Parts: sequence; structure tokens; C-alpha cells
Amino acid sequence: MDSSFWDDRYDAEAYAYGTDPNVFLTDAIGTVPAGATVVELGAGEGRNAVWLAQQGYTVTAVDYSWTGLKKTEQLASRFGVDVETVEADVITWRPARTWDALVVTFLHVLPDQRALLLSQMKRLVAPRGWILAEWFRPAQVEQGYESGGPPHADMMVSKAELQHAFREGTFSRLEEVEYMLDEGPHHQGEAATVQMVWQAP
Ligand SMILES: C[S@@+](CC[C@H](N)C(=O)[O-])C[C@H]1O[C@@H](n2cnc3c(N)ncnc32)[C@H](O)[C@@H]1O
Repeated sequence: MDSSFWDDRYDAEAYAYGTDPNVFLTDAIGTVPAGATVVELGAGEGRNAVWLAQQGYTVTAVDYSWTGLKKTEQLASRFGVDVETVEADVITWRPARTWDALVVTFLHVLPDQRALLLSQMKRLVAPRGWILAEWFRPAQVEQGYESGGPPHADMMVSKAELQHAFREGTFSRLEEVEYMLDEGPHHQGEAATVQMVWQAP
């Protein structure tokens, strides 16, 4: 999967994952102070970024899909909020700043890029900053769930991997979860995910 795959997926009037925010995000956002700066990596068509802006956060949405970012801007305009959009590969992007919080939902990269992604996430948050993240975990494939995600378990993220990668900070949540996903046409049905709320040292 590369940016052209996502450009094709987003090249439709409908929003692939809906326009409502991810439910884990709406549940976990209370840990992030009001008015904070938030960066979302792999923001897609902007359902989370726009909702965060509506909550009063100053939001930057990063994705390598130009089509996704255009739809993010359209959604932001529909709701009358500002979201900064950045077209970049999240693995190689090197902004000269940090954010108070970082959000990821279902950003799955190739196995050999995952350690780079997890390091990048830590690099982009300020000291004592927060990371809120949800991914499909390998059980999604192993249990034959068809609610979304990449085709291979090695592109998914395990709790043990997160425990190790983020060991220098504090987890306020690190859970394996099974629930009914209901996020637009591409995320429907029983799903196995891992959810993380982490504070940087
Ligand atoms: C499954 S979609 C999820 C979109 C959004 N987070 C949501 O939950 O609605 C994954 C997104 O990650 C983006 N993505 C994947 N790999 C990326 C990379 N290396 N750099 C930037 N964006 C990436 C894709 O373009 C796509 O928009």
C-alpha cells in the first residue's frame, strides 16, 4: 500500500471511515489539556483532526495522500474550523517542532518501518506530552475478522511490542480490545485492536 492506493480509496464522495471521530479517541482525549497542540499522523480524510479542532485543539493533520488531505480541508470548512494539513511520509518527516499530543488511528506501515514509526511518534511529542493510538492487532487476522486493516498480521501492532517500544514513559492505558467497529464503509464488524494512552517522560 502506497499513497496512490489511498488516493484511489479516497477518490469518492463518501468518507471511507466516516466523518465521525474514532470512538477510542473521543473516550481518551480527556487526558489531553484543553487548548493543546495536537498532531495526527496518517490522518486520512480528517474525521479525527476536524473533531479535535471542534474541541478547541490546534490541530495538524499529516498524511501522504493528497486526496485525503483535500477531503480533510473540505470537512474542516464544512464545520467551520481550521486544521493545518501537511502532505508528508510520516516515516521520513522531520518538522522542527514538537506537539503537546499525538494521535494515530489505524496507521499500519510495512513491518520493517514500524520501529521507525514508533520512534517518530516519540520524537514528535513534547516532554510530558501524550500519545493516543489505536491499531489492529495480529488477532484481527488470526481470528479471521474482516472489519478492515492490512491483509497480513505482521503489519499489525501487538501490546508486547508497544510495552517495549514505549518503556521509558508512562502508560495510562494499554489494552487489547474486541468490539464492533462502525466507521464508514471500510471499518465495519467485529475487530481486534490494541489501544494506548501514553505520556512521555
Ligand atoms: C486506514 S487509514 C486511517 C485514516 C485515519 N487515521 C482514520 O482512522 O480515519 C490509514 C492512513 O494512513 C496513511 N498512511 C499510511 N502510511 C503512511 C505514511 N508512511 N505516511 C503518511 N501517511 C501514511 C494513509 O494514507 C491513510 O490515510
